[in-house]
Amino acid sequence: MKQFLWGSATASYQCEGAWREDDKLESMWDHYLHEFQLENGDVASDFYHRFDEDLKMAKEGGQNSFRFSLSWPRIIKNPQGEVNEKGIAFYRSVLKACHHYGLVPNVTIYHWDLPQYLEAQGGWQNEETCQAFLDYAKVCFDYFHDLVDIWVTFNEPRWFIFNGYFIGNYPPGCHDVDMTIKGAFHVMYASALAVKVFKEGKYPGKIGIVHSYTPVNGIDETVETRIAMRYADNYCNNWVLDTAALGEIPIDMLGKLSSEGHDLSYMTPDKIAVIKHHTVDFIGLNYYARALVKPYTTGETTLIVNNKGKEGKGTSKTIVKGWFEQVSDPNTKKTEWDTEIYPQGLYEGILNAWHKYHLPIYITENGIGVSEDVTVEQVQDPYRIEFMKEHIEAILKAKEEGADVRGYYAWSAFDLYSWKNGCEKRYGLVAIDFEDQLKRKPKASYYWYKDFISKH
Ligand code: BG6
Repeated sequence: MKQFLWGSATASYQCEGAWREDDKLESMWDHYLHEFQLENGDVASDFYHRFDEDLKMAKEGGQNSFRFSLSWPRIIKNPQGEVNEKGIAFYRSVLKACHHYGLVPNVTIYHWDLPQYLEAQGGWQNEETCQAFLDYAKVCFDYFHDLVDIWVTFNEPRWFIFNGYFIGNYPPGCHDVDMTIKGAFHVMYASALAVKVFKEGKYPGKIGIVHSYTPVNGIDETVETRIAMRYADNYCNNWVLDTAALGEIPIDMLGKLSSEGHDLSYMTPDKIAVIKHHTVDFIGLNYYARALVKPYTTGETTLIVNNKGKEGKGTSKTIVKGWFEQVSDPNTKKTEWDTEIYPQGLYEGILNAWHKYHLPIYITENGIGVSEDVTVEQVQDPYRIEFMKEHIEAILKAKEEGADVRGYYAWSAFDLYSWKNGCEKRYGLVAIDFEDQLKRKPKASYYWYKDFISKH
């Protein structure tokens, strides 16, 4: 049997920095954050220059895998699709370093940094972006297939589509239900196109998708709550996982959207057929929290994400008109960013996903974001150790009960840029002092993880 993968994860925009080095183009995140003068990832963790040190540290921390993403605007030079050899060389060096340090690379093709020239032409609203993604994915397979066995098409379609088109706190900053539905569909179609070209090209390895998994619980057992749970499950999970893993967009969700008057005519039979016939080999689940829901009562759709931490504590809200409302469980702990800490949700969620899809599962992200003082010799983070321990135990229990879980990745390998929360929302096993030459210092959790891995 293949070894269980114990790793940690990152994403290109969040850690690389070097935002315009070696002919890298502007991404939609570069553009948006510069335009609104917000904290950005221009330098981030400077992984671009320090990847060797970071990978060595992962290896010395007992890990045997590393999850990262490729930056599209670093690899493709222009709208004509010309390849940037410097970008290719960079990622080949990273991949070779992974192998050198005994880290199985787990590679995501798209973790949200769309080239800005595509965003300017409509981004995920424009069907041509799907074709451009397919071409870019093929470049990745062609140039890196000798070094990669685990491929991921997209990281968390729900998160970047809902935040970008529905909630409006991510680029392109829109609030429009129809744009959300169309963007979501185009991403799922693009993912299937990449799976198709991967299989047809007979590249080695396996290909999957990574989802921001939010298992749904109800406040009671009534029929009304169970209906709300189904709406919430469609909203949170099924449109990504059913579509990618089963090749089926949930039909009751399409019925609901259609009855609400949304035009779905761009979901043409030829595209639906691509989705149907090109499903993934595995699913990656990023788990932060579940959703506890009740039936919708009244009021407009309200979606608020707390990107302010302590200052915004308790402001998060999800009400989807006519579908469901999310409630906060008074008995569970929440982080400063309102994320509930609920390991039981991971255990139940894995078993549900396993019974429903029967595909291998990787827990591709799991971690806790905290503001920490990193000027000390070593960050003492017992809360992170407790969080990881409880979540890993939940995974191992689900595994013992039959779920085919093949790996666990802590989010994140080291401190990095946490999107609209900035760098001070820290998730890393290794602290990075962004004020002092980006010095790296392993936290107590890094050593705890090392010890845990060696015992398992
Ligand atoms: C996931 C993403 O949504 O969660 C990561 O894949 C992200 O990119 C992580 O950083 C934590 O979320 P946040 O918003 O706290 O950084």
